[in-house]
This record gives sequence, structure tokens and C-alpha cells, in this order.
Amino acid sequence: MNSIGVFGLGVMGANLAMNMANKNGKVAIYNYTSDLTDSFQAKHQNKNIEAHYQLDSFINSLEKPRKIFLMVTAGQVVDSVIASLLPLLDQGDIIMDGGNSNFLDSNRRYGYLKKKGLHFISVGVSGGEKGALNGPALMPSGDKEAYQQVAPILEKIAAQVDGKPCCSYLGKEGSGHYVKMVHNGIEYADMQLITEAYQFLRERLKLDVNQIAAIFEEWNNGELESYLMEITSAILTHVDEETNLPMVDVILDKSAQKGTGKWTSQNALDIGVSLSIITESVFMRFLSTVKEERMIAEQELNGPNPFMGAVNKKEWIELVRQALFMGKICTYAQGFYQYKQASEQYKWELQLDEIALIFGGGCIIRAGILNEISNAFKENKELSNLFLSPYFKDKLNNYQEAIRKVVIKGMETGLALPCFNASLIYYDGYRSAKSGANMIQAQRDYFGAHTYQRVDKEGDFHTIW
Ligand code: 6PG
Repeated sequence: MNSIGVFGLGVMGANLAMNMANKNGKVAIYNYTSDLTDSFQAKHQNKNIEAHYQLDSFINSLEKPRKIFLMVTAGQVVDSVIASLLPLLDQGDIIMDGGNSNFLDSNRRYGYLKKKGLHFISVGVSGGEKGALNGPALMPSGDKEAYQQVAPILEKIAAQVDGKPCCSYLGKEGSGHYVKMVHNGIEYADMQLITEAYQFLRERLKLDVNQIAAIFEEWNNGELESYLMEITSAILTHVDEETNLPMVDVILDKSAQKGTGKWTSQNALDIGVSLSIITESVFMRFLSTVKEERMIAEQELNGPNPFMGAVNKKEWIELVRQALFMGKICTYAQGFYQYKQASEQYKWELQLDEIALIFGGGCIIRAGILNEISNAFKENKELSNLFLSPYFKDKLNNYQEAIRKVVIKGMETGLALPCFNASLIYYDGYRSAKSGANMIQAQRDYFGAHTYQRVDKEGDFHTIW
């Protein structure tokens, strides 16, 4: 009998199946269409893998309670697959969904399957194809008892950091997919921040791609250490074989997206938290798509002198480094604040220190900073905002001047740095005891009698203006 079944043999599903088999699991594989099963079989010979072409033989080959890992396209497909499995399953069987599903769908599927006596586990999976094969970060949620039954498999295939798997039970219902969704939002912002640092170095300090690659490599040895920093440095030295130009200059500057960043922002609006940095990164992807309009606008619309003149480049490079680290802190502060609020509002009991630990290996946003984030939430379970933890407070106090200088220089020379800007605005907004919202309240009360609270006594008040 097989210990687990993998349904869906696209690159991610195939690699996860191989990962499970390589860790000595007995794995049954199945795909809706036989072509992917055939190509899997032609590519991999693994004694621990058993290919099935019929759904019932796939299901019947599994030990009970059956454990089925779905790696299919998120959305409607997941519902169709679940519908096709239902007649073949028994009470207590476990369906795991490893796709980038929307957590609202996962909540619904969890409730629906629970009523049928089945377990549904949302598993956020991060790390791309290589991660899937060698060790992804896994973010599982659902019923804790059901998780215990799949934990030995999931924790074995996950990335390991200091002997600990980047996988642990995160919370109720579809919270695993929620955690993955915000992970992706952070990924968008992190990518945009690195891009802004790159643009500043290239377009304002006039450094070439090789110089920037070397700078990023050096930064990657310090507090900015991260997978995204590492690959950006590698990207910059890659040359296009056809044109002999830097690959990055040959790639069209229109960005695609599959929607998880947008969901993160939509949810922030739903639960009422400030998520300006991630949201700016989503907006910048949208703005990038109107390339043709941007090309016309460049000819038509005025801007300032884009030249910085003679400056001390070494000093500016360090300012950009500090600005980037500060932007990263602000992004994580907002992302983890969103986790905290979501956990309270949805009653999920998310463990923020655990989430940061899971992100420490295998996933796309893995970075040195996550250790500090985990420590901050471990030391103070009540911590509301990372900004107020000793380590980050210190960094912010030291680096706020640098990001300010970079943002001002960007504005002065007409270089859009939306995530750097949003980071600084959030920082200044958060550290201001006086917000200006008293004026908003007065205006609301003036035109709509919406009432306001006073600084000197309790209650709701209205003025006849
Ligand atoms: C991961 C990634 C992955 C995501 C891609 C593409 O953690 O492995 O987040 O899940 O699908 O990064 O996302 P976009 O197409 O939206 O950029």
C-alpha cells in the first residue's frame, strides 16, 4: 500500500512526489490526463513511486486513512477534483491542497468536507520547482489531529533549518493558505524594494550591471542576506546569448502576476489594516503593463532634471543599502501585523514566531531577517508591531535618515520609488502620536453628523457647526 497519493503532475506536483519518494515514502501518482503521467514515468524511475491511470486504482492503492495531496491549478479545478474523489473516499480520509488557493475557498472546502466526515488540510507551499524537489517551506492548517497524521510526511519533505523542519501546524481552517497568501504579498514587496534599489544604483548613480551585481553580492553577506538578493545578483551578471546584452535589459518591463499579491491587499482592506507597501508593489505591476502608454507619456510629460551630478557614490550606495533594509523591515512589520489582526478576527491562533521560522528556509522570501522576527515574537507574544521590538527599533532609528535621503533624491530627480516611499510614510505615520484624523472626524461630523470622540472626556459628540 502507498502512504500518500499525489494528484496533479505539473512541475510542482511531480517534484513534490519525487521529494516524498526520495525520503522513502511510498507514493502513488495520478494525473487527470495520461500525458503527464507518461512523461513523469519516462523521466523518473523511482522504486517508491507507483503510477496510476485510473482514479479508483489510485485511491484504492492508499493506506487508510488515505492521504491525498492535490497539486492542481487553484480555483474551480480544486472543487472538481474534490467532487471526483468524494465517491471513492471513506470517513477520516485526508485531502491536502498544496496549490495557491484563496483562503476563503479553503475555509469553505474545510467546512464542506468536515460535514462529510473528511479532513481538509490547506498546505501553503513555497520554494518553486527546486524547493518542491529538495525541500519547500510548508504552511499547513486545518484540524490539528488530522495534521498529526500527515506531519511525518510533510515535515520530512520540508526544508530543514538547524535540524528543524520548515513546516509546522499553523492554525485552523484555511489559515495555511492565508499565511501563504501574505507570504506572496511580502514576496512582491521584497522584489519591488530590491528593484528600486537596483534602479537607483543604475539610473541615478550610473553603475553598470556588474558593479551592481557585486554590490548585491556583498549586501547578501550581511543583514540583507536573502534568497531574492542572491538571485538578483545572479540575474544581473547573466548575458543574453543572442544580443550579448545583459539579460535584464532584454526582458520587457511589463510584469505579470497570478493574483496572490492582490488578494493580500484585498484582505488588508477587508480586515482594516494598513498594507501600503505590498499594495504599492501590486500597483506597480499594474502600472508596468501599460508600456505603450508609458512610452508616449515619457515624451509628453515633464519631469525634473534626472541627474544627480557629482556625488560620493560610496556614501550613496550605503544609504541605498540602509533604505532597502528599512523598507524590508517596514514590509514585514505590515505583513506580520496583518497576520496578527487576521488571527484575532478569524480566531485562528496563528503563532507569529512559528511562521517566521517556517519562512526561514525553503521559501522564496527566506532571509536572515526572519530569525530576528521570530525572536521578536517569541520574546514578546503580545508584540503588536515589529517596530517596537528592541532589535528593529534600533535599526529603524539608525536607518530612517538614509531612506529619507534616498526617497527625497528619487523625488527630486523624478525616479518613482513607490515601496521606499510607502515604507517611509508608514514609518512616519506610525511614529506620530498626532495623526490629523481629528480633522477628518470634524469634517465627517460637519457634513454628516457622524459624531466624534473628544480628547478630554468619554462618549460620542456632535457639534452644530
Ligand atoms: C512561492 C511563490 C509562488 C508564486 C510565484 C509567482 O512561494 O513559491 O510565491 O507560489 O506562484 O512566485 O507569483 P506571481 O505570478 O503572482 O508573481
